[in-house]
Amino acid sequence: MEIFPRGYSGIWLQIASVWFLVALMQNFRGSLSTSNYLIGLGSYDITGPAADVNMMGYANTEQIASGVHFRLRARAFIVAEPQGSRVVYVNLDACMASQIVTIKVIERLKARYGGLYTEQNVAISGIHTHAGPGGYLQYVVYIVTSLGFVRQSFDVIVDGIEKSIIQAHENLRPGSIFVNNGELLDAGVNRSPSSYLNNPAEERSKYKYDVDKEMTLIKFVDDEWGAVGSFNWFATHGTSMSRTNSLISGDNKGAAARFMEDWFEKKGRVENLDSQHANKSGTAKIPRRVSSIVPSINENRNEAMEVAASFKSSQGQPATRFSSVAKRVRNSLRLADRPQFVSAFCQTNCGDVSPNVLGAFCIDTGLPCDFNQSTCNGKNEQCYGRGPGYPDEFESTRIIGDRQFKKAVELFNKATEQLKGKVGYRHAYVNFSNLEVAQGNDVVKTCPAAMGFAFAAGTTDGPGAFDFKQGDDKGNAFWRLVRDFLKTPNQEQVNCQRPKPILLDTGEMDKPYAWAPAILPVQILRIGQLVILSVPGGGNIFVVFSFFLQRKAFDTNKSYIQRWHLVQ
Ligand SMILES: *[C@@H]1O[C@H](CO)[C@@H](O)[C@H](O)[C@H]1NC(C)=O
Ligand SMILES: *[C@@H]1O[C@H](CO)[C@@H](O)[C@H](O)[C@H]1NC(C)=O
Ligand SMILES: *[C@@H]1O[C@H](CO)[C@@H](O)[C@H](O)[C@H]1NC(C)=O
Repeated sequence: MEIFPRGYSGIWLQIASVWFLVALMQNFRGSLSTSNYLIGLGSYDITGPAADVNMMGYANTEQIASGVHFRLRARAFIVAEPQGSRVVYVNLDACMASQIVTIKVIERLKARYGGLYTEQNVAISGIHTHAGPGGYLQYVVYIVTSLGFVRQSFDVIVDGIEKSIIQAHENLRPGSIFVNNGELLDAGVNRSPSSYLNNPAEERSKYKYDVDKEMTLIKFVDDEWGAVGSFNWFATHGTSMSRTNSLISGDNKGAAARFMEDWFEKKGRVENLDSQHANKSGTAKIPRRVSSIVPSINENRNEAMEVAASFKSSQGQPATRFSSVAKRVRNSLRLADRPQFVSAFCQTNCGDVSPNVLGAFCIDTGLPCDFNQSTCNGKNEQCYGRGPGYPDEFESTRIIGDRQFKKAVELFNKATEQLKGKVGYRHAYVNFSNLEVAQGNDVVKTCPAAMGFAFAAGTTDGPGAFDFKQGDDKGNAFWRLVRDFLKTPNQEQVNCQRPKPILLDTGEMDKPYAWAPAILPVQILRIGQLVILSVPGGGNIFVVFSFFLQRKAFDTNKSYIQRWHLVQ
């Protein structure tokens, strides 16, 4: 079962985007000035405990870390107007950001830099890999399967974020930022296409696809050194690695980031040697192991463990060399002082976007699963999505990573539109349990959080256990009884959540402490015509805002393109 209920990004992002538009109207009517930013990038290891810790994402108690596929990093950028405001964005190779991690990071940044970096202007986001250690969030729902809080997981993420920001801060130098976007068609499919069809035809007709296929990339160019990095946003789940994988991995986005950083490094070397012979792509680097979903090929475990163990640890190694400005004179022979290239592949509205692009099949019969409920003979446990490298999940990870990497390189090479204008930010704590949301001509209200019966069925990326089914709007008596041991939802909550039957009334459970958040920070960063909206725990709505550039109309629908699915 997956931690995020389907439809999750839909409603949240819709709520957030309404709030966000209002905020924009009120506060971002700044004057356009010619851009002259200070830019700084940083990157630091956040791999965490590689054994005996439950992994975050599939909520599978049996998925316990036992090695490393490849290491995880925090990658950060800072953009500042000289004598003006600044914003920080950190992308974690982790399942999601965490409010308690953010609080700790901000505390440390305040101790170090005073009021320069605060909860107002620091946004932290996760790539949604389902193969990282868990236990670093404060709500019960997110740490049930890790049997509570895991200090080691938490500490390494806090340290890594802090160090990546320190690096970015020390690297701050004059530079420009360019933006580009384009479609990437073969790295994500809708894993619940039948649910998407529940959207009104009129709404669906506005979109070319049933998921958002757009990648948006920003390219950082140092005045002296040229390109020093890029961040891009594209929606696809970090579920190329399966729910039975036990090796820590950044999944497809972590892989893509490494491919791009290696590519740039190699390209620099090639250009430097004036040689055309080296391979352009570094994507063959990550070794492969065979999926354990298919029992017949689950052999050679020891060999796989040896391969995993052969990776050299990079913990504690900064990605960027620190050096004084004086030393960094323009001198092509002194490339060693060049800041290392940082490339992040960030998550965005990935709600129901699966990287398992071949579709979902029954592992017993090999036939496609039931279209409406993603079941095989009525059972959800047998229905799995297949990645392009099926049955090898490592190969699927590599291929989906490679596709994102190649698109990013293309956008990177052709990015010519420069970001110009004010740097700004907005931040607010929003109580999501009682918000009014416009839906067409109606106004509807959100309720305290609750998980439906269908939630427990998981998704085709990671089916749940027992007899739960996707699309279940009835529930069953046995599980209702079990549920009532924990908390019986009151009639108001039942009505509010209808037609979704409540399995766990998480928003109203607070023993021993809160099971799910009610109040969430909503964050907006603005760099010229670019706006990044972030709600920790979710992805980011990422829009290229065009009130200034008139490049394209601002489209709030973007954020809930996938569908609203009532029954989960
Ligand atoms: C370069 O790429 C080719 C084909 O993709 C591959 O056969 C070859 O082994 C690669 N060479 C190196 C040095 O990686
Ligand atoms: C899925 O459900 C819809 C609506 O209930 C129904 O019309 C359709 O025939 C079903 N499709 C399949 C393949 O079962
Ligand atoms: C959030 O809003 C709900 C409903 O209005 C209210 O009951 C709850 O106390 C609020 N939560 C907090 C922490 O203020």
